[in-house]
Amino acid sequence: ASTNQPYRTGFHFQPAKNWMNDPNGPMIYRGIYHLFYQYNPYAAVWGNITWAHSTSTDLINWTPHDIALAPSAPFDSHGCYSGSATIRPGGRPAIFYTGSIDSFTNQVQNLAVPKNYSDPYLREWLKYTYNPLISATRPIDATSFRDPSTAWLGPDKRWRMLIGSVIDNKGSAILYTSKDFKHWIKVEQPFYSDAKTKMWECPDFYPVSTVYQKGVDTSIYGPNIKHVLKTSLNEPQRDCYMIGTYDIGQNKFIPDPESSLSGDSGLRYDYGKFYASKSFFDSAKNRRILWAWVPESSSEEDNKKKGWAGLQAIPRSLWLEKSGKQLVQWPAVEIESLRLNEVKLQNRFLQGGSVLEVSGITAAQADVEILFDVIELDRAEVLDPSWTNPQVLCSRKSALVKSALGPFGLLVLASKGLEEQTAVFFRIFKGQDKHVVLMCSDQSRSSLDNTNDRPTYGAFLNVDPVQERLSLRSLIDHSIVESFGGGGKTCITARAYPTLAIDGDAHLYAFNYGIEGVSISNLSAWSMKKAQIN
Ligand code: FRU
Repeated sequence: ASTNQPYRTGFHFQPAKNWMNDPNGPMIYRGIYHLFYQYNPYAAVWGNITWAHSTSTDLINWTPHDIALAPSAPFDSHGCYSGSATIRPGGRPAIFYTGSIDSFTNQVQNLAVPKNYSDPYLREWLKYTYNPLISATRPIDATSFRDPSTAWLGPDKRWRMLIGSVIDNKGSAILYTSKDFKHWIKVEQPFYSDAKTKMWECPDFYPVSTVYQKGVDTSIYGPNIKHVLKTSLNEPQRDCYMIGTYDIGQNKFIPDPESSLSGDSGLRYDYGKFYASKSFFDSAKNRRILWAWVPESSSEEDNKKKGWAGLQAIPRSLWLEKSGKQLVQWPAVEIESLRLNEVKLQNRFLQGGSVLEVSGITAAQADVEILFDVIELDRAEVLDPSWTNPQVLCSRKSALVKSALGPFGLLVLASKGLEEQTAVFFRIFKGQDKHVVLMCSDQSRSSLDNTNDRPTYGAFLNVDPVQERLSLRSLIDHSIVESFGGGGKTCITARAYPTLAIDGDAHLYAFNYGIEGVSISNLSAWSMKKAQIN
């Protein structure tokens, strides 16, 4: 990042310029990773939507290719919206995407296939002659009918695919089936719908193993498998998921009893800025990888001035947690190859009200892992039973509010005098029968420029501090901070636009503003090399 572009990143995926939103059609083909994304070739605002395309051999360094899909036909004249790739038997990939067909944004679903399967970069795509393959039928409203999922093959040799919609005011995933990938039949009742949600964007549906952390192919069905159904919901933008059972005979998803999309206990991939995500099965490393769009928190005017908008989160491995009640996510291991010059601290006591600078790294472009040991767990403040909403709790108890145990954590992208800081921290409370850990990412002081959105994000972290130590990892990259609590049980991504804490003037601190001391049993921080991206 140069000084006139202080918010461009060193190792996050972004195009050279202009607008980017959803990740589309991620896959691996002949050992090459492909990422397509929603892209406006002409401006740093949404519009003229195409599928831009890059490839990589390591998920970190990316080579750009020509735009793969651009409006060209009556079935996509007003935009090539989001969609997914499916690897068909024989290893042949295909893309389903949404075409916007008029100025009202009526939507249809289209198929595209590689022009030349022997090109591992799959540089050219052919739109199928008989597109659109799926159009909205009553009661579906064609302006709310988009984002086909990766298709999966049932034991009956029929293909299945989900499309996001809202029917009778109920957010829905609609199931389509096909014998030949070309003729698709709508299943009468929705695959899943929820009256407490509106439009479902970018549905994703995939199996997870109940016995190991490895990923499984999207069509796997059988013992030792649970299924995950994810949807992207607006206002605020968030990616919510449920864990449950897939009844292939009934063509239904049945969420587990405690799994629901709404309410304070609803699960999210990430409790910060993280939207329109899509996963794929990486058959080379047997893992499921998750991509997601991280929008800007700056004004449209600023985005136009800097000439770009939108990042992709670092791709994450994802698996089912031991309890079976939530997922765990962790940055793809390849990112660790960018680590340089480790700085280590061990067994450092952080007194209440203290700050400890971690020096010797490029704090604007860094990876840091910290492990806390909290001794005085008995002193924890009692959790008021009415404090059920963690986001509200984090806003009320910002980084400056002290309680008995916490806030303690990291001050990232911080200026020397701490006028600017993004605070990622924990607070421990005493709940009914166990401790309750709150994780927050407080952006309220992240920039002196208050035209930026500076929210506070928060979520509970399902770790019992009596049983295990609290860990936090943050990937810091100029204008983005991705934080992983408890080894990836709770994730929070934030955008920050410091005016002072830029490049060499950015600092990193461990802090404890609580009353009781806590100790850092381990801290490792690395400068991060710049990746070759587009
Ligand atoms: C999600 C989304 C999708 C749509 C695409 C258009 O961010 O609104 O529903 O396909 O973006 O760019």
